[in-house]
Amino acid sequence: MTEAQPSATDAAFDALDAAWKGRTGRIADLFAASDRFERFSTSYGDLLLDFSKTAITDETLTQLLDLARVAGVEQLRDAMFAGDHINLTEDRAALHTALRNRADESIPVDGIDVKTGVDETLRNLTAFAHAVREGRIAGARGNAFTDVVNIGIGGSDLGPAMVTGALAPYHDGPRCHFVSNVDGAHITDTLKGLNPATTLFIVASKTFTTVETMCNAGTARAFIADTLGEAAVGDHFAAVSTALDRVEAFGISRDRTFGFWDWVGGRYSVWSAIGLPVMIAVGPDRFGEFLAGAAAMDEHFRSAPLDQNMPVLLGLVGIWHRNVCGYPSRAIIPYDQRLARLPAYLQQLDMESNGKSVTRDGRPAARGTGPIVWGEPGTNAQHAFFQLLHQGTDTVPVEFLIAAQGHEPNLKNHQNLLVANCLAQAEALMRGRTLEEAAAQLVQKGFSAEQVATIAPHRVFPGDRPSITIAYAELDPFSLGRIIALYEHRVFVEAAVWGINAFDQWGVELGKELATQFLPAVQGGALPPGASGSTAGLLAYLGGLAQA
Ligand code: F6P
Repeated sequence: MTEAQPSATDAAFDALDAAWKGRTGRIADLFAASDRFERFSTSYGDLLLDFSKTAITDETLTQLLDLARVAGVEQLRDAMFAGDHINLTEDRAALHTALRNRADESIPVDGIDVKTGVDETLRNLTAFAHAVREGRIAGARGNAFTDVVNIGIGGSDLGPAMVTGALAPYHDGPRCHFVSNVDGAHITDTLKGLNPATTLFIVASKTFTTVETMCNAGTARAFIADTLGEAAVGDHFAAVSTALDRVEAFGISRDRTFGFWDWVGGRYSVWSAIGLPVMIAVGPDRFGEFLAGAAAMDEHFRSAPLDQNMPVLLGLVGIWHRNVCGYPSRAIIPYDQRLARLPAYLQQLDMESNGKSVTRDGRPAARGTGPIVWGEPGTNAQHAFFQLLHQGTDTVPVEFLIAAQGHEPNLKNHQNLLVANCLAQAEALMRGRTLEEAAAQLVQKGFSAEQVATIAPHRVFPGDRPSITIAYAELDPFSLGRIIALYEHRVFVEAAVWGINAFDQWGVELGKELATQFLPAVQGGALPPGASGSTAGLLAYLGGLAQA
């Protein structure tokens, strides 16, 4: 591979590095400026992005906006919305935004208006979802479906699973379940207690070749055939895929197959037919509101000036934390239990998009690219890993998400505690506690001087740890659509500045290839040449235990 080359962004990064090295004072001190919150937050409708609890200054923000300009973020954004083949290595457009664009405008890809196909698929999905919800499409024995099992993995699982969980208060359709892992435990535990006569399976796979999904689909097929008879299979399956011929070969009829297009990346596909389980759970109207929320964020991203553009600002702060401040990970902490799967969803969105070491022109990336993304909902996370966030040796920028109100008006005390904890954690991370403060607290509690000297250092919080807060009125379909699109575009902005392609995922290939090669050995054959002694040893060990 050739060397990293000087880039147009080098000077902007140099300026940011110099400012960071010359930094004096702490984040908390920056709040001496009374307008800091207004200055370093931006809103769009009721959605607020507050990044004032980071070390950002006016100078840094100006430099970051310069960085976005010299990196050509706006040009690449416009190329994405125009349907250009910005996914260079797969020679494709990245046009998930077309799936939620309900405006009366044509959206050309390679000279063809994709709007017609998008509209038609949405109409078909809507009709199917209504019919399943109303029992007009029913099982082989005439029973209405009470349960829908989505079989898919990665983008064909995480999006619909996360969104279905997030919109639980809006469920008025059949229950939805999600099977992804090839571990037989997953489908076994999911099917336990389900009545085959009232269960509909949706096999979701963009390629319809993914081993895990095909394996689980085969088991589900047997579940129906063994209990209701082979002839019942067709009535209990639907499919979502871009590979319509492979779906047909599997035995799912065309009128129960919903397509999408190669310009929709798997991790950007929840807006497409991949969202079918969501539509069945909450109804097509709510699904439409979800699309509308994302479309609103698209419009904002497309038109807002850079210094008020939420995805741009979120992306720039992320880049600054990653490349200038040197923080290799970011934690996503929704103080919103129904967003429990958001960290996992964002792991795929962010890490599969930006976990790259090569730039768009095939050279080594000059700087660190996608950070490690992880997280759990608050307040649970506080009782698990917040110890490390507060007192560990690494700084991890935290992204908090919090709604003003929950869906449980009779449990206002819960929501009040949730909000108080969210605000408190962000404040504690920033403020910290000095040795003097820790000692004074202990003295006040009556500890001896010797005890104070021993214990106080353990009760020091370094503080000065940055966080971002995303706040919104409540987690409804529109709001959720907006939040997901915000994160999609943030990933886009970061990739644009790093000069990498956010829309391919070659890094998942090698492991898949080796798994295919190793399967015969697990079944009793020989390992392929080149397998290491460790793999041979482990295979023999597992084989021995399995037979014991
Ligand atoms: O292995 C990674 C991946 O290709 C993801 O990008 C994708 O979301 C997932 O597998 C599932 O792929 P498919 O929808 O084709 O089954």
